[in-house]
Amino acid sequence: MVEQIKVGVVGCGGICKGTYMENMVNKFAIIDVVGACDQIDSRAQWMADHYPGVKKMSLDEMMNDPEIQIIVNLTYPESHVAITKMALEHGKHVYVEKMMAPTFEEAKMLYDLAREKGLMYTTAPDTFLGSWEQDARMYLDNGVIGEPRTVHAQISRYYDPDTPFFDTEPRYFFFPLHYGGGFPFDLGGYFLHEMINLFGSIRRVCGFGGNLFPERTYKNPKHPKYGEKFEVNTPTTLIAALEFENGVLGTFNISSDTQNTMIFEVAGSEGVMHLGDPNSFRTPITVTRPGANPSEIDIPRGPKPAPDPNADNDRQVLGEAKPSQTVILPSMHGFYESLRGVGLADMCYALKNGRRPRCHADIGLHSIEVIHGIQESCRTGRFYEMTTKCERPEPLPASAYSASGQERVLDE
Ligand SMILES: NC(=O)c1ccc[n+]([C@@H]2O[C@H](COP(=O)([O-])OP(=O)(O)OC[C@H]3O[C@@H](n4cnc5c(N)ncnc54)[C@H](O)[C@@H]3O)[C@@H](O)[C@H]2O)c1
Repeated sequence: MVEQIKVGVVGCGGICKGTYMENMVNKFAIIDVVGACDQIDSRAQWMADHYPGVKKMSLDEMMNDPEIQIIVNLTYPESHVAITKMALEHGKHVYVEKMMAPTFEEAKMLYDLAREKGLMYTTAPDTFLGSWEQDARMYLDNGVIGEPRTVHAQISRYYDPDTPFFDTEPRYFFFPLHYGGGFPFDLGGYFLHEMINLFGSIRRVCGFGGNLFPERTYKNPKHPKYGEKFEVNTPTTLIAALEFENGVLGTFNISSDTQNTMIFEVAGSEGVMHLGDPNSFRTPITVTRPGANPSEIDIPRGPKPAPDPNADNDRQVLGEAKPSQTVILPSMHGFYESLRGVGLADMCYALKNGRRPRCHADIGLHSIEVIHGIQESCRTGRFYEMTTKCERPEPLPASAYSASGQERVLDE
């Protein structure tokens, strides 16, 4: 039996109900969720009703419960600072969903507070601990594309709120169009954490963009504010260049003003690795490299043509065969289900075994500084030199364990 670590969860909205609570309670043996709290009481009550052992608690009760060691902050980004600060001031370790704070200054204040108090502070996204992300790290470190030289990260989704619910009350607060929750913060974190996992710290950044269409209109006829204008107060499109400390050069293009795209690729001296979706734990990843694959023969449908006595091999007989240069890389790591919360489990083992957690606040602080730096560059027209650094998190050992056995790779 693993000795469990007691945690209290603040914020029982979409992601808590959809994924986290189930994973924390039923997927990781080391996590013991004892309390749930939300400013909307019924949400915390739902958790208590559905998960035996989880009590509905007020913020005060949770912060003052001596048994609770970690506060899991799953509130929306606007509330991340207040809840994290309160938890640190009450001597609790903190795991917080992305981004750790809406601004770099606030993130730095919390980072310094955690250090001053000697508390562990970790931040999502933890998806870089997922199966394909750890595979990519292992394969790149093993030289499958030679020396990595460039990385291209591009993601866009069109966020034009036409839901009848958008922003009618806290229950329907659509954070991706509010400061700190905007798309570069919301989805950018996944790409940044994975790029840091692969290449380490970024030295400097520059970019264009910002808040492209600040004034918008409630477009859904069913919305109570239909036809009224509202103001978006967060950057919605950033197009940036990144220079990593290790010499890798990157692009980071992120927008909620255009239709959907997603490209995530690393190019190296001997090949190109096509990465997966860093917001997911399991996506096939492939490598394109001269000689990556023995010649493949596309067998045409229908009966095999009679052998041509003049042909010297099968490929000529079939006529259409082309040697493929792209191979799917075998998956070598666990955590391939949707296991948000694995970063929290890793943090629990880090506390138990006195080691550094993989989702260390260094990574979260560095990521929010990248977003901050790109905005500064947009404003000043100059490069932004990063002031923070972070180590690449320790890779996870490759594992062929079954789902319930994967957790043991964290217990070192
Ligand atoms: N929704 C997703 O798909 C998703 C996926 C991964 C990560 N996340 C991250 O998880 C976090 C939460 O996202 P969500 O979609 O669950 O948001 P949400 O708005 O659905 O839920 C947030 C909850 O926090 C509560 N809350 C806010 N401030 C509070 C306070 N001061 N005290 C107590 N409760 C408070 C709200 O009432 C709400 O129930 C965000 O940081 C987001 O980036 C969301």
